[in-house]
Amino acid sequence: MITTVTLNVAVDKAYVIGEFKKGEVMRVQKCTNTAGGKGLNVAKIAKLCGEEVLATGFVGGHAGAYVEQMLDEQQVKNEFIHTAGETRSCINILAQDGSSTEFLEPGAPVTKENIEEFLKKFESMIDRSEVITISGSVPAGVDVDMYARMIKKIKDRHKKVILDTSGALLEAGIKAAPTMIKPNADEISALLGVPVVSRTELIESGKKLQARGIEYVVISLGGDGALVIDGKHVYHGKPPKIDVVNTVGCGDSMVGAFAAGMARGWDAEETLKFAVSVSAANALTMATGNFEEKDRKKIYEQTKVEIVE
Ligand SMILES: Nc1ncnc2c1ncn2[C@@H]1O[C@H](COP(=O)(O)OP(=O)(O)OP(=O)(O)O)[C@@H](O)[C@H]1O
Ligand SMILES: [Mg+2]
Repeated sequence: MITTVTLNVAVDKAYVIGEFKKGEVMRVQKCTNTAGGKGLNVAKIAKLCGEEVLATGFVGGHAGAYVEQMLDEQQVKNEFIHTAGETRSCINILAQDGSSTEFLEPGAPVTKENIEEFLKKFESMIDRSEVITISGSVPAGVDVDMYARMIKKIKDRHKKVILDTSGALLEAGIKAAPTMIKPNADEISALLGVPVVSRTELIESGKKLQARGIEYVVISLGGDGALVIDGKHVYHGKPPKIDVVNTVGCGDSMVGAFAAGMARGWDAEETLKFAVSVSAANALTMATGNFEEKDRKKIYEQTKVEIVE
């Protein structure tokens, strides 16, 4: 089983409007609600890959119950800790000129008791899982070392853990040496405090992180695919050129596919090729955390893995 952790769950609302006019009343033409937070995209993708998945984290209030209901409808098994505050909404305004404007609520605070209840339940979830993914931001009330604490628990039980977050949470989480991280170039640059741009620079930075005990450093490169640095080799998985519809959630799709490959015991090269095809196929659908198997298969056949070193 794959357990996906989303501490900062959201109801993602996509508003389709005509022209975006600051300071004016705008009518929404179409509103779509989805269960959001990066870890829930990971859960949906791992499920579509055919894995048994358990989604966990914090939810609260009516919005939290709505998220649980949406996951139930998609047959994504879930066990959340219920908090007093209402689950947040994140709004993405899609205007006719193609622009996308996002409003991300911070998330209602969680209490110390909520955190302790979560950490206790989490232990039994680790025991039931082969792979655990930890994604995204945390709500107020959660310390910056929370992910490091969780990673330690997972590693003490000899299970695999993928960490996909940014900023201070990534910096603190890395200290506990997760099995895999999946930064993009911006996240690597922020982590190292210098701009990391070229493939050579990215590989060098990835190697430094790998040497700190992270088995697989996966660096995603958008349309250029992704690098895997595993201490022995450096692989570059490259998707074919595709007509992109929506790239939101591509990183999460990559994490979901890597979790599936890890759970199946695939090697790095095979998992990379699979994950590149899944994440590129996600870019061909409007929905986040979704792909069509026929798209994935076609992309997979055209995805090349170069052994760089
Ligand atoms: N334009 C694209 N064409 C083909 N594949 C893509 C494209 N954009 C993303 N992908 C696939 O998705 C993977 C992850 O994308 P990206 O590097 O943008 O992740 P990210 O920056 O973490 O995204 P997110 O916003 O989801 O966190 C890439 O490695 C690639 O396989
Ligand atoms: Mg990302």
